[in-house]
This record gives sequence, structure tokens and C-alpha cells, in this order.
Amino acid sequence: MQIGWIQVVEFRNYRTLNWTPAPRLNLLQGPNAQGKTNLLEALGMLVTGRSFRTSRLAEIPRWGAESSSLAGELGRGEAEPAARRTVRRTLTKLEDGGWQNAGEAVEWARAIAFGWQDLEIINGAPGARRNFIDGFATRLYPAHLATLVRYRQVLARRNRLLQGGWQGEAGAARLEPWNEQLAEVGMELIARRRKAVAALQTELARVYGALSATRGKVEVRYRTALGEASEPAALLAALARARGAELRRGQTLVGPHRDDLAIEIDATDARAFGSRGQQRLVALALRLAEILPVTEAAGTAPILLLDDALSELDPGVRAEVLRELGTAEQVFLTTPEPLAVEGAAVFRVNGGGVAAA
Ligand SMILES: Nc1ncnc2c1ncn2[C@@H]1O[C@H](COP(=O)(O)OP(=O)(O)OP(=O)(O)O)[C@@H](O)[C@H]1O
Ligand SMILES: [Mg+2]
Repeated sequence: MQIGWIQVVEFRNYRTLNWTPAPRLNLLQGPNAQGKTNLLEALGMLVTGRSFRTSRLAEIPRWGAESSSLAGELGRGEAEPAARRTVRRTLTKLEDGGWQNAGEAVEWARAIAFGWQDLEIINGAPGARRNFIDGFATRLYPAHLATLVRYRQVLARRNRLLQGGWQGEAGAARLEPWNEQLAEVGMELIARRRKAVAALQTELARVYGALSATRGKVEVRYRTALGEASEPAALLAALARARGAELRRGQTLVGPHRDDLAIEIDATDARAFGSRGQQRLVALALRLAEILPVTEAAGTAPILLLDDALSELDPGVRAEVLRELGTAEQVFLTTPEPLAVEGAAVFRVNGGGVAAA
């Protein structure tokens, strides 16, 4: 898919911007703090309706603004009129001080964002890996997001009951319906995460192989206390076993909220043993590996939002990354320093403005 044009109003450090990007690789150059990452955020939000950077809507409108809006044209495939769509999104301040996010969903529109904070996926806490796989699973199977929200609701209710310290028969009776729901919704989440991991694995091995001079083998696996089980009954049984400990600790101790991904280079844990450079390559390879499965699931290629992705890489790897990007559709790549890339459209980002370089 492609963004034909975008209009940005009162969004982060942009007052108004009208910009027509190129259909393939767009290089966004400019010094620090000029609005490069903000522009990627706007492009991503135009496409998906959500920020890849924050879930707090209040951060997004330009400071002091009462509303913020995005408009643009999204297109897929060749120039048939039916495949172009103008979308509008607005953030509006409500009377209670909250913000409302309005805009239509475009079922085939996807964006994949990468930034160096993604190193967290490799060396951060398990929550970073769960967020990664849930984000990817949502790009493959949009229903995953609603399942995730539902799971969090059920989990919160169940934890509150456990904190109430209901022992014995009465406690068991009160927990019962929540156990059932947690097991059902939890297994649905786990099933999609497993499918997502399987979809990622082949491409990850290929991309990492292409980027890495050492050609180490990288592998990602889903890790859960439930082993290979796929029936809600297995999660129910695990909850029953954990019952005593759960009551003591006042929280749910088994389920997808405790799961993790194992990411290994040549069969050793990338988090513990990978060099900093290897960890970087795996983080970038994970995002690039999303492209093909997401393209197949959505029926059109996602846009890529790559924040400073070439910094921190040595020249040989940069060349390989650019070669990978050559097969992608529309790409937005930010860089603080001037970069010469064949075939790229170059734009300068300066103080909330964008101009052809
Ligand atoms: N809601 C907002 N309203 C106004 N300005 C904002 C808002 N949020 C962030 N900014 C400002 O936008 C400026 C540009 O931020 P951005 O992260 O896009 O910079 P950048 O060009 O990516 O820089 P770097 O090269 O350092 O990554 C920052 O100075 C920041 O303070
Ligand atoms: Mg930035």
C-alpha cells in the first residue's frame, strides 16, 4: 500500500503540513528535534488510527491545541479508483480533559514501525516481547486486539477477586466464572501468538542470514508454562494447581500474561549471550521479517516507518538493509546525517516543515 498525500494539523511540533511522499523509498533527513520521528508517528497514525509511540492520546496534539487532525490518501495496488481512499482522523479534547480519537478503519492498511528502542525486544523484560508478538499478531489477525483487551479485563477482575482473599467454597464459587473466561480467552491469545511466531520464523532466519556477516542461525519460539497444550482445559487445570499460591500472592500466576518468547542465536539466548551488534541485527531483522507475512495477511504491502534504522550499523550491514528495503513498497527512513541512497526521494525535515532536498 501507499500514502499518496498527507495533511497534518496541530500534531506534535507540526502546525500544518501538506506533503506528497514518493511511492517507494523516502529519506527524511534533518538535525535532532526537528520532527522526523513525529512525522513517522503521523504517517503511522494515518494508516492505523493509533500511535506506535504512545497510548496516551494527550501527548500527541501540539502543546496547547484543542484538537489535532490528519488526512490523507491511502492506496493499494494499481491506479484503480476503488483502491484509493481518503481518510481523516481527529483527536478532540473532551470536557473532562480526556481526548477522543475518531476515524474510520481501513481493513487492508498496515504500518510496521522500527526504532532502536526495539532493542528492548531482545534484551528487555518479557513484557517487551509480549508487546512485540501481540503487535505483529494484530497486524496479521486484527481480531487479536479485541481479544487482548478482553483478556486484560478478565485478568483484572480475577486479580481483584484473588486480592479479596476469598478462601474455601465461597471463594472457589466466585472465581469459577472468571477461570472459565480466562482459560477461553487466554487460549485464544496463545493460539494466535503461536501462529504469529510460526509465520515469523522462516522470514526471520532468511533476513538475519542476509544481514549478518557471521550467518548465525536465529530462532524464535513461544514460551508458555502450558507446554504444547491448546485446549482451555489445560489452562483451567494450571489455574487449579496454582490456586494456593495465587491466593497468597493475590494475582493470577498462569496465562498468556506470563508467557515469553525465546530468541536464540545459534541455540544460545540472544539476550544473555548475543553481542550488542548481534542484538541490534536481530531486533531489526524481527521487524523486517514481519513484512512478508503481513503483506500476505493484508493482501497488500505495509508501509515501513524506520526511525534512524541505519545508524549503529556497520557499512556492510547498511548496504544489506538497503537491499532488503529495495523489495519493500513504500518506506520512510529517517536519518540525522545526509545519506546517499540510490533511487531514494530525499526530504529535509526542519522545525516542523518538510521540503524536497
Ligand atoms: N505534543 C507536542 N507539541 C509540540 N511539540 C512537541 C510535542 N511532542 C513533541 N514535541 C517536540 O517535537 C520536537 C521534534 O521531535 P522529534 O522526536 O520528531 O524529533 P526528531 O527530528 O526525530 O529528532 P531526533 O533526531 O533527535 O530523533 C521535539 O523537540 C519535541 O519536544
Ligand atoms: Mg527522532
